[in-house]
Amino acid sequence: MEVLRITRPGGPDVLATDERPDPVPGPSDLLVRVRATALNRADLLQVRGHYPAPPDVAPDVPGLEYAGEVVAVGPRARRFKVGDRVMGLVGGGAWADLLVTHEREALPMPEGFDFTDAAALPEVYLTAYDALVLQGGLRAGETVLIHAVASGVGSAAALLCQASGARVVGTGRNAAKLARASEWGVARTVLCEASPPRFADAVREETGGRGADLCLDLVGGDYVPETLEALAPQGHLLLVGLVAGARVDVDLGTLLRKRLRLTATVLRSRPPEEKMALAQSAQRHLLPLFRSGALRPVVDAVLPREQLREGLERMARNDSVGKLVVRWA
Ligand SMILES: NC(=O)c1ccc[n+]([C@@H]2O[C@H](COP(=O)([O-])OP(=O)(O)OC[C@H]3O[C@@H](n4cnc5c(N)ncnc54)[C@H](OP(=O)(O)O)[C@@H]3O)[C@@H](O)[C@H]2O)c1
Repeated sequence: MEVLRITRPGGPDVLATDERPDPVPGPSDLLVRVRATALNRADLLQVRGHYPAPPDVAPDVPGLEYAGEVVAVGPRARRFKVGDRVMGLVGGGAWADLLVTHEREALPMPEGFDFTDAAALPEVYLTAYDALVLQGGLRAGETVLIHAVASGVGSAAALLCQASGARVVGTGRNAAKLARASEWGVARTVLCEASPPRFADAVREETGGRGADLCLDLVGGDYVPETLEALAPQGHLLLVGLVAGARVDVDLGTLLRKRLRLTATVLRSRPPEEKMALAQSAQRHLLPLFRSGALRPVVDAVLPREQLREGLERMARNDSVGKLVVRWA
């Protein structure tokens, strides 16, 4: 099979096509022919040599999500058969013609979706669902502050909040990108051009002075202290990304006084049983929302495989709104 591999740490130009033996599915695995994949910040970091792959995947072939067709199943696999259309997350190796995944980590593609629609779903929706619903206990009537709301995860999270009856205040640094936010049901956007960013007053205004119940923080850095100000008493900060920085000075007194909760989370490094549990939960509770039309892919562009490198450059420039999808085969 053909893969796109990292030849040395660097920019997207260090990626090169290579031939590898076809992977062989284990007893409960699926062998999937990749039809589409999508780009992630983690891929950018991995290509630069800053985010090594977990031990169970090829260290030099990035790619965290896929949509494709089952071409073989292990002898103990029961959930899918050859020809089924599946999508899902993998620890790496999705920039390849074929990949192997445990059948309990794969999800059936929503009916009527094509491969490029489906490849836009796993990373952003599983991340948003896991953080907001499973860890944040999202409920109707709550107000959720989402940083970088025009990002892939941000736009998916906003649609999930809308589908759950929650209200969203979203931040971002680009007015043109924020102008799209009403498409995802965002009630109010706050343009954050200055550093440190200021949004707590706007959140209080939107919530009758109370503050947000939850914050999905996709950026970290100097957004964190202001986020603590913007949260309601007993509010919950879900820290998911660090594009704005990994170090910051925080007044722990604010956490204490307001009895706030802080949860930090990643998907990729979790043990397989936790990834399977998330996929199974998403199949039961999230997939029906695609069938009903409440959730949908937010796609910035579908690129041919030859333009994957340009897609990564675009992501690095923060130019995209929603997902950059790559048609593989
Ligand atoms: N923990 C996990 O398991 C997990 C899973 C998936 C993603 N993530 C993280 O979630 C975040 C969003 O991912 P994504 O794939 O949705 O990203 P994305 O679509 O590429 O968008 C990220 C956005 O973040 C904003 N941003 C970039 N640098 C920033 C800075 N210095 N300060 C403030 N905002 C900045 C930009 O939006 P504006 O230009 O509009 O401000 C950018 O478009 C990333 O941090 C990613 O690493 C974590």
